[in-house]
Amino acid sequence: MNKEEYINAVETLNLWAYHYYVLDDPIMTDEGYDKLYHKVVEYEEAHPEDILKNSPTQRVGDVISEGFTKEPHLSRMWSLEDIFDADGLQKWLEKTYRLDKNVTFYCEPKYDGASLNLIYENGELLKGITRGDGTVGELITPNVKTIRSIPLTIEHKKRIEIRGEVVIFKDEFEKINAQRLKAGEQLFANPRNAAAGSLRQLDPSITATRNLVFLPYGVGVNELSHKLLSEKMSYIYQLGFREPPLRRITKGFDEIEAIYEQMKEERESYPMMLDGMVVKVNEIAAQIDMGYTVKVPRWAVAYKFPAVEKITTVKDIVLQVGRTGVVTPVAIVEPTEIDGVIVERATLHNFDEIDRKDIRIFDKVIILRSGDVIPKIIKVLTQERTGNEVKVARPKNCPVCGSELLQEEVLIKCQNLRCEARVVNSIIYFASKQCLNIDGLGVKIVEQLFSAGLVKSVLDLFDLNKEKLLALEGFKEKKATNLLQAIQSAKGCELWRLINSLGIEHIGEVASKMIAQRFGLNFVNAVKEELLEIEGIGEEMAESFLEFLRVNHETVSKLVEVLQPVEPEQQEEAQENPFKGKTVVLTGTMSESRGKIKEKLEALGAKVSGSVSKKTDFVIYGEDAGSKYDKAVSLGVATLNEEEMQELIQ
Ligand code: IVH
Repeated sequence: MNKEEYINAVETLNLWAYHYYVLDDPIMTDEGYDKLYHKVVEYEEAHPEDILKNSPTQRVGDVISEGFTKEPHLSRMWSLEDIFDADGLQKWLEKTYRLDKNVTFYCEPKYDGASLNLIYENGELLKGITRGDGTVGELITPNVKTIRSIPLTIEHKKRIEIRGEVVIFKDEFEKINAQRLKAGEQLFANPRNAAAGSLRQLDPSITATRNLVFLPYGVGVNELSHKLLSEKMSYIYQLGFREPPLRRITKGFDEIEAIYEQMKEERESYPMMLDGMVVKVNEIAAQIDMGYTVKVPRWAVAYKFPAVEKITTVKDIVLQVGRTGVVTPVAIVEPTEIDGVIVERATLHNFDEIDRKDIRIFDKVIILRSGDVIPKIIKVLTQERTGNEVKVARPKNCPVCGSELLQEEVLIKCQNLRCEARVVNSIIYFASKQCLNIDGLGVKIVEQLFSAGLVKSVLDLFDLNKEKLLALEGFKEKKATNLLQAIQSAKGCELWRLINSLGIEHIGEVASKMIAQRFGLNFVNAVKEELLEIEGIGEEMAESFLEFLRVNHETVSKLVEVLQPVEPEQQEEAQENPFKGKTVVLTGTMSESRGKIKEKLEALGAKVSGSVSKKTDFVIYGEDAGSKYDKAVSLGVATLNEEEMQELIQ
């Protein structure tokens, strides 16, 4: 690589990262990125004098600070006045209109994270400062540089402060907590704490692993001449920052209410947590006229969403035994409405978590519920204790079958394969939608069948008859007939459903489908080498599968006999042709539906995939082809238009 190629490579890496982290529309595979990144590192090691300020290698800080130094903001970081309902909005609008009756309002999400001030000079990121008390914060530049949605350099050369919120996306939050749970570490209470904690790490390499995201919401000191806030913000996004999932310029009460309702409805589907909508006067001149109170701007207000955190009381702590035997403590709480949903239970994860938070029966606690986040207790109000609270002891014996429990790292497990809870839950799993999809086999019925001694394993389901069912309480002719029919209709199921229903560790729906496709009914005789040949099946999965079959060979064979599953259709060998065995991606509008073209190509023996990678052989494009086409070109993958494809087929 020479200097010119190095400069180009940095630009390319930054473009790929911008597509990935800012536009949410990747145009390069991780592998492709890593390869070029590696070359850049090699060049920089040989020519340290050439290292560019905006090289992605400059994001990885390896210096651990002993503490953060205080740093003043160039202009104050304000907070916002809160309003909670239409009445509050009405009053705020009246006040605002008294100051200026011609204003319009810019509405955008209020992100729930940690605020951050970025100072750029000469187009370079100079400082990243936490909010602190609004006047002075902490200097955390090395941490900030690890955040990929913050450009290291921008096209704007004058000095500017760009303010925004650092957040962790909801799925990332669940991932981090799952890892921490596994490692026996303390869980983060919510994405906000996780974001704030990650941002203030003394070791920036830890910050780098947390996939933080920066969402700009305004500017401090700046020399921009736009007359409207909406224009200023468009300019900021265009410099390489992320846009909000929804923003709108509104005229007055009705329009603000409408966009508020829309955002409240849609927010569950956004990747980040919101705690409200911010309403800001859009005209900059009017903002300046209106000015600030001692604490907050008069030209902006936070219109909060209903709280997702509530105070309630723990009534009991019960133990649940799952189909794999893991014992999970669950808090039963005083039913509390949060954002339209009644919460009665909150997961406590495991006993290490209970100890760490010191959760006791009758404690007053704060619980959190939000979109995809499972209700959980985030804090015990210890100051409210009366002395009557009761600690729960770690169980020694299974609460269901009484057998001795095994402590396996942070997990406590019931080892008894015949434990009622394990059997009942495996039967429920067996019947669930993604398995055999048998209606009517819920917790109550399965428990009843089990305790009547009628069903001790999934195989017994197929020996049920009307006589047996009618002898049970609550079963009349119709209910019995329906259940028997539902069980019978599982016969002749697709083979992958049977494999999935076995509940083998590490073997989920996708793996079950691949195994069914590769082996058909012969899956019972699969050997390790053959399993490993399947793309996506690794050592651990193969071993788990084989071990399960070894132990349960008889049951599995009987299930196959009873269920008579159908094998997936094996594709007929196609004649020799240019598409046989090739991976093809379709994009854009074509003369026929893409589904039809896909069928044709598959009949020729091609594999039609949804995304472009190095392994793609052809990208076939129609009109208005977008990023997949661009990606093909940048990866050097062959592209064909529809006509060229037809010619090749002929
Ligand atoms: S504007 C002068 N806009 O909420 C304007 N703040 O309660 C001051 N926040 O400290 C802030 N999303 O950290 C603004 N779209 C948004 C916001 C937002 C989140 C945070 C910010 C601020 C706090 C104020």
